[in-house]
Amino acid sequence: MKIKKIACIGAGYVGGPTMSVIAQKNPNIQVTVVDLNQARIDAWNDNNLDNLPVYEPGLDAVVAEARGRNLFFSTDVNKAIDEADMIFISVNTPTKTYGKGKGQAADLKYIELCARQIASVAKSDKIVVEKSTLPVRTAEALKSILKNTGNGVNFHILSNPEFLAEGTAISDLHNPDRVLIGGEDTEAIDALVDIYEAWVPKERILTTNLWSSELAKLVANAFLAQRVSSINAISELCEVTGANVDEVARAIGRDSRIGSKFLKASVGFGGSCFQKDILNLVYIARSYNLKEVADYWEQVIILNDHQKSRFAEKIIQTMYNTVNGKKIAFLGWAFKKDTNDTRESAAIYVADHLLEEEANVVVYDPKVSAEQIYRDLDYLGTRTSGENRRLVTVVNNPYDALKEAHAAAVLTEWDEFREYDWVEIKRGMKKPAFVFDGRNVLDGNQLEKLGFDFKSIGR
Ligand code: UDX
Ligand code: ADP
Repeated sequence: MKIKKIACIGAGYVGGPTMSVIAQKNPNIQVTVVDLNQARIDAWNDNNLDNLPVYEPGLDAVVAEARGRNLFFSTDVNKAIDEADMIFISVNTPTKTYGKGKGQAADLKYIELCARQIASVAKSDKIVVEKSTLPVRTAEALKSILKNTGNGVNFHILSNPEFLAEGTAISDLHNPDRVLIGGEDTEAIDALVDIYEAWVPKERILTTNLWSSELAKLVANAFLAQRVSSINAISELCEVTGANVDEVARAIGRDSRIGSKFLKASVGFGGSCFQKDILNLVYIARSYNLKEVADYWEQVIILNDHQKSRFAEKIIQTMYNTVNGKKIAFLGWAFKKDTNDTRESAAIYVADHLLEEEANVVVYDPKVSAEQIYRDLDYLGTRTSGENRRLVTVVNNPYDALKEAHAAAVLTEWDEFREYDWVEIKRGMKKPAFVFDGRNVLDGNQLEKLGFDFKSIGR
């Protein structure tokens, strides 16, 4: 089976970069990425590559190479489905906000809508690839919807979970540790293996059954998140004992069985995957009555919530137990550096906590828009959007954020924060000038020498 045309439903953080690289590396395959959101598609088609809807280092060059050649972005979902031999489903699967499994289970409404649309449009056999993170056994639901169309079209379902991390998506895609393909039909699996083999060495392409592939995605994220929560738990212990969490991390990371990655203590993990996938795992375990298993993984989330509120509390306590009317400058809003994605970012929760204490928060992030920041706060529903706009200001220059501020709080590890003129910043801030480094990125010794009252995580 040779694939000539691919369609991808969903032009977000996963679909956009992944399809751009597949198109770049397979110039003979026509790749069409479709989305219901017209503004998003327009942004993907914008001649000015600075306006792509996803900020990701290196993405602009890949899009510049493939777009218009064999990579297309469109809102015509039906046409793309009709023409494609292979369809990737890359729509969002947020945590349910209503009904059964509220707050834990993944909302599969968008997936089901896609499946129904594919079923109604397809006139020839198709390979359908689930790319979104889905709870185990979603493929079964997909299969059941697609099998029962009654129009004689055959569908093969594959699971091909995405392991790219935002901020490094292009290098992760270009040089993946592994590509995972789950499925039942060897011909369909081989067709997808072929596409990846255009640039990924064969030994890095793993094939499994559908359920293993789906579960492996959740488990990989749960293990990574667990490492962050583990080191964050130790950071609190370090603060009370006088140990230094960076030194502890360095010492344990040298153990080759443990390894050095993902041991960076922080204000807490964010992103669209970790929390959602663990909640999913917890939900699945609970639904099979595996209480201990569910509780074990849930603790990773509980610790993460604790780390975020602990950071906010530290700010309040250090500033004489009141932040009412005080200007607190947030450096960073994205959930990590080198992305404009803010989903589940620790900054949102820390801000919310401080706003409950009537602080004035001024936010600067190099890539996140003011509208996004207000949308994130409004989404929590803690206060009216009018109140959020009264208490929070967004600026596009860090020095404006820090002028007259009582404190600076680093929420994202953007490299540029290190390069600022902290002498000038100190001059402009209220005294004592507090700096709370939620990412351990600033040079604390240097800042203390300059006269800042400096607090970081786990030291
Ligand atoms: C993650 C997985 O890494 C990726 O494989 C999967 O496909 C999607 O989920 P992503 O959410 O983009 O990727 O970012 P990641 O780099 O994993 O970071 C997640 C969060 O953990 C971020 O908020 C990050 O700042 C935080 N983190 C990470 C730490 O606080 N400390 C660390 O040592 C590592
Ligand atoms: P992810 O990080 O998983 O890529 P995003 O939210 O960035 O998630 O992207 C998912 C995209 O899927 C959104 O742009 C959304 O508009 C799109 N989408 C959701 N449902 C459908 C659908 N039925 N048809 C087409 N696009 C859809």
